[in-house]
Amino acid sequence: MASLKIIKFPDPVLQRRASSVEVIRPEERALVDNMLETMYLNQGVGLAASQVSVLKRIIVVDVGGGPIDLINPAIAARIGSEKAKEGCLSLPGIMVPVRRAKKIRYKCLNRDGKLTEGEAEGLLARAIQHEIDHLEGRLIIDYVNPVKRFFLKKKILKNPQP
Ligand code: NI
Repeated sequence: MASLKIIKFPDPVLQRRASSVEVIRPEERALVDNMLETMYLNQGVGLAASQVSVLKRIIVVDVGGGPIDLINPAIAARIGSEKAKEGCLSLPGIMVPVRRAKKIRYKCLNRDGKLTEGEAEGLLARAIQHEIDHLEGRLIIDYVNPVKRFFLKKKILKNPQP
């Protein structure tokens, strides 16, 4: 396993849409392992492949219940909604409130290419929704109003991260 470089805002790759994974090869499985290692090393609860410059629809999440990897994840149902503050490894030092579904049902492929369905709620549901946003090129600062976004971007660009 190897840890990967997490790209930071305003890297334009973060705003691009990731492509579906057609075939899960050893390369994709190695990517999942490396993404998990990178997530743990950086004390994150989730990571999308886009954040390590790979525009494939792969995310990993662990909110304390063990690692989950989701390939081509899709949300099949959203139940309820709640607002809570979120951070992002690609936007260090920034926390913004984001409204998300409280509970979701999702579909994805697992690393063996098997179609998997699951339910998630609370922090796990929030993390999955946050990471799927990355696959669409959507970041947490896209949820704040334009004035607040302007000041957040200014704050980020004043303290560039390696
Ligand atoms: Ni993020």
